Amino acid sequence: MPQIDYIVKPGGQLSGEFRVPGDKSISHRSIMFGAIADGTTHVTGFLQGEDSLNTLRAFRAMGVEIDGPNNQGEVTIHGVGIDGLQAPAETIDLGNSGTSIRLMSGLLSGQSFDVVLSGDRSLSKRPMKRVTEPLALMGAKVDTDEGGCPPLRITGGAAIKGIDYAMPMASAQVKSCVLLAGMYAEGKTCVTEPATTRDHTERMLNAFGYPVGTTTGRMCIEGGGRLTACDIDVPADISSAAFFLVGASIAEKADITLQHVGINPTRTGIIDILKLMGASIELLNERVIGGEPVADIRVRSAALKGINVPENLVPLAIDEFPVLFVAAACAQGKTVITGAEELRVKESDRIQVMADGLQAIGVDAEATADGMIIQGGSIKGGRVHSRDDHRIAMAFTMAALRAESDIIIEDCENVNTSFPDFIGIANRAGIAVSVC
Ligand code: S3P
Repeated sequence: MPQIDYIVKPGGQLSGEFRVPGDKSISHRSIMFGAIADGTTHVTGFLQGEDSLNTLRAFRAMGVEIDGPNNQGEVTIHGVGIDGLQAPAETIDLGNSGTSIRLMSGLLSGQSFDVVLSGDRSLSKRPMKRVTEPLALMGAKVDTDEGGCPPLRITGGAAIKGIDYAMPMASAQVKSCVLLAGMYAEGKTCVTEPATTRDHTERMLNAFGYPVGTTTGRMCIEGGGRLTACDIDVPADISSAAFFLVGASIAEKADITLQHVGINPTRTGIIDILKLMGASIELLNERVIGGEPVADIRVRSAALKGINVPENLVPLAIDEFPVLFVAAACAQGKTVITGAEELRVKESDRIQVMADGLQAIGVDAEATADGMIIQGGSIKGGRVHSRDDHRIAMAFTMAALRAESDIIIEDCENVNTSFPDFIGIANRAGIAVSVC
């Protein structure tokens, strides 16, 4: 496949109303839980990005009949029940998707059949011991390669038992993995998290009639229950909206509204951080859709100032740091990010890759072990590389809004993992990005 690069002309004034694609985390879970529910689950607003499509294909490969998605993002899942999955004929390739492999490792460790889960170049470098260790404590048999990375080889038929697990890192993927294995375990499984992480698994399992007990920082599930099919309306992904929240904040004379965005409080760190930097962000028409809070978000240009990002907000904005670093580069003064070492094990090492890219376009950015120090000022322009990471590609697209000359971003095919039609929406908003 030929490489796709983005070329972004400097400047641009953002305006208009847009709906960015569906939430990736919620889309993945809608397929997984719909697949093992009793009855038929209807999903609307499903993200037609490669990551969530990989989850969908995986469950089809395990015998689940799934119709769609059609152009409106409608998916119908004919659930096979908690024990109805079948052995796939071959290795399941989950592409770039960390959420798919980590959640599925938990869900599949309680099945009667063997399965192998693999991924692309980026996923094959990501740490999996964080899921295989708690799964081993539960009695599951899940092997990694020698370096603790995919492929994951799961041996079926293991007797799984509940555990009480104190998670060493703030990770919704690890929490979800253990809770999903807990559905197949004997007894009760509890997870304690060191900081609040996204709670879509807990909310959606409850919506499917499988109770998850939650007290602050601690989630518990009893094994041996069943899920009942339901309808899921997937809101627009705040992590995709984030590019435009920053874009409209840093561009001149911008005024945009992002429609129907999920504002689950475990995901809104980006709004809190941008507001601390002086951004003009208003939540309009707040409502609750299918157990998830949703709003339209109006953003206007603002003079941002550098801040010390509060560490408690880091897990609540964990996917938004690439574009937050761009906001910091446009702010007046210094921004310091600490407590964000998890960024080093995302689709790329987002601390190093962003620091390298920011320096390449003339920004004073210094990578630290657990974050970055950025001195706001001007952005010159230049050539950067996405390093197999969709959010790096989109973050540098926004940087061009304040650049003095073109920004060329190499290898942007990966944007399709989370944001199909990014170019179309960005162009309509007023960003001069094209593909070359
Ligand atoms: C996700 C959790 C986060 C996030 C990822 C999606 C999820 O990962 O970075 O994009 O859907 O549970 P961690 O839980 O590893 O931080």
